[in-house]
Amino acid sequence: MTTIPTAQTVSGARRLRGEIRVPGDKSVSHRALIFNALARGRARVDGFLDSEDTRSTMACLRALGASIEETSDGAVIVEGRGRAGLSEATDVLDCGNSGTSMRLLAGIVAGLPGLAVLTGDESLRGRTMARIVRPLNELGARVTARAEGTLPPVVIEGGRIAGGQTLETPMASAQVKSAILLAGLAADGTTTVVQPSQTRDHTERLLAAMGAGVAVDGPTVVLTPPDGDLQAVDVRVPGDISTAAAWIVAATVHPDAELVLQGVGVNETRSGIIDILRAMGADLELTEERTVGGEPVADLVVRSSTLRGTEVGGDLIPRAIDELPLVALAGALAEGETVIRDAEELRVKESDRVATTGAVLRAFGIEIEERRDGLAVSGGASLRAATVDSATDHRVAMLGAVAGLLAEGETTVTGAEAVAVSYPAFWSDLDRISTG
Ligand code: S3P
Repeated sequence: MTTIPTAQTVSGARRLRGEIRVPGDKSVSHRALIFNALARGRARVDGFLDSEDTRSTMACLRALGASIEETSDGAVIVEGRGRAGLSEATDVLDCGNSGTSMRLLAGIVAGLPGLAVLTGDESLRGRTMARIVRPLNELGARVTARAEGTLPPVVIEGGRIAGGQTLETPMASAQVKSAILLAGLAADGTTTVVQPSQTRDHTERLLAAMGAGVAVDGPTVVLTPPDGDLQAVDVRVPGDISTAAAWIVAATVHPDAELVLQGVGVNETRSGIIDILRAMGADLELTEERTVGGEPVADLVVRSSTLRGTEVGGDLIPRAIDELPLVALAGALAEGETVIRDAEELRVKESDRVATTGAVLRAFGIEIEERRDGLAVSGGASLRAATVDSATDHRVAMLGAVAGLLAEGETTVTGAEAVAVSYPAFWSDLDRISTG
């Protein structure tokens, strides 16, 4: 992977034009490796996201004994030998910056005999794991963590998961749901997860394709483990809508823009950003709609638009959770106020994104109020260039860069290398589509 300078400058762009094939979906890439490592058979993963986060998952799986090879054409081959092909690692499992790696792998090791210790970088070691420690203990694993069971490292003695249980998750989190379902695969009965709202369903789709019984009723998921191991399946990873969102928002709010984003995953449980921007009046067209590897995919054509403010809350929040900082930016350039509520989960991401979004957007001269459960942004802003810091959060780095494209003058983003966890080519794509 290329090394990204820690400080990047962005000039206000006169025009935004071009086509971008955004990199593979991060959530699907993690799952394609993890689930196939647990399965029996050979699987090819095409369109895999090559980034720091997904490499953390790959390294941890190898440490658990999985056989994973990369081909010269960018595919990844997983040779699964079933659950028995995975075993206790001889060292701690380092999940880097990746909450998805830690929480999903916790579900896997909870179902494996032996001890596992999961740790990560400073940011990840500051993120709550109580949300998986509690349910995995209830399922029968022995799980402890630093700071009274709340922070990594997380220590798991796995291998005795009891079936027939129903667990309610207090927060809408696909990672928590997935940890429970993955542990449930090791049980000898069903496992039911009841969420406050539906969350991204990549886990359900892939487990069903691999032979598990998965019954979904709105926010409730009932898993029946397969007889024996999961069956390996090839995965074609769609483009990541969370990554595309940076360009979607940039194009809609820029006065002279037309961008084509190719092969973007538009799964209903992820496409809240499209619904939000359309409600704001965005000129956003879906073309070439198709199904790729069991996931709906489309090309997106996005043009300069006149936006009006909006209110975002309720069930829409988990469908757009990683895009909400960009929604706040769109709101600043819309007419009227934009309010994001019911989004307290923003506070426990790679950074406290209520605070970091507030800090970044204020630096550009935007009026923004940080609330317990979200943000309120005044529209009609005119952005002035700023120096902003990513707080080691990839999505905050991209937010600062997109705001820089829309501001007069030269913006500096420090901690710019953070984009490598999900989009290593971000800065070069930005250069390619913008005319200064
Ligand atoms: C993810 C789920 C979401 C999202 C994260 C990836 C996943 O987190 O914010 O970037 O792959 O399951 P939560 O489960 O914490 O909501």
